[in-house]
Amino acid sequence: MPKPPHRIVFANEKGGTGKSTTAVHVAVALAYRGAKVAAIDLDPRQRTLYRYFENRRETERRRGVDLPGADFAVFDGGSVEELERAIERLATGDLTGPCDFVIFDTPGRDDPLARHAATRADTLVTPMNDSFVDFDLIGQVDAETFKVRRLSFYAELIFEARKTRALKDRREMDWVVVRNRVHHIDARNQRRIDDALNELSKRVGFRVTQGLSERVIYRELFPSGLTLLDKGQLGELGTSHLVARQELRELVAKLHLPGFTNRAEAA
Ligand SMILES: Nc1ncnc2c1ncn2[C@@H]1O[C@H](COP(=O)(O)OP(=O)(O)OP(=O)(O)O)[C@@H](O)[C@H]1O
Ligand SMILES: [Mg+2]
Repeated sequence: MPKPPHRIVFANEKGGTGKSTTAVHVAVALAYRGAKVAAIDLDPRQRTLYRYFENRRETERRRGVDLPGADFAVFDGGSVEELERAIERLATGDLTGPCDFVIFDTPGRDDPLARHAATRADTLVTPMNDSFVDFDLIGQVDAETFKVRRLSFYAELIFEARKTRALKDRREMDWVVVRNRVHHIDARNQRRIDDALNELSKRVGFRVTQGLSERVIYRELFPSGLTLLDKGQLGELGTSHLVARQELRELVAKLHLPGFTNRAEAA
């Protein structure tokens, strides 16, 4: 019986926090390190992850190159049981061999399949931007003091799922809140969010890590399906892109994924 793949779920019921962009970059980063990766898009309406990988495949064809990537699919409208069966097929590798990681990209709204995927994650990645609008999804803060007043429904849901999992399956869920698209100009807001996240992370038990900073290149890569890691394909890269690539490597290292824990690349 092959080892079940490690499930990495990108979820935040808020739209536009960088789930799909981060999911594709992490998937490709793992593939570059030799992991076999499957990517499932749970947003059949938007299909960003799916279309990103489709564009990537098209670029490979057009340029006659072979780039590391993922087996990818959209899961469209089925039940939780069907989704689990699809994952099992990926895990046992009916088609192309068993995979090490299944990456789920979920829609930026409440959705039963996304919830299911989140509660079954081995690593749950919740990207958020530095804004209390995004923070609201995890917890609510006091209007005057910015102290956390209470957990959000979503945080409660994950909190309960982790407890059940730890008791039942003895499989831990690592919840990582990733701060994406941080602007370096807004120190006061950042500090307030830092404080609120620190307070909440102790209560709920998530970790906080830096994600991808705000860079135009992330918006430009989609049509080609390329990522910052596809060195030979991007032409001359300026310093800021090299820094961005380093940020991505650090993010992957901080996810502490199995088989990669002690392999943090040189900073
Ligand atoms: N680090 C970044 N810097 C600049 N732009 C970014 C960055 N990350 C994502 N974007 C852009 O922000 C928009 C939203 O990103 P993305 O689609 O990854 O978010 P999402 O959380 O998946 O959204 P949704 O909830 O709609 O699925 C896109 O236009 C994307 O190109
Ligand atoms: Mg998305």
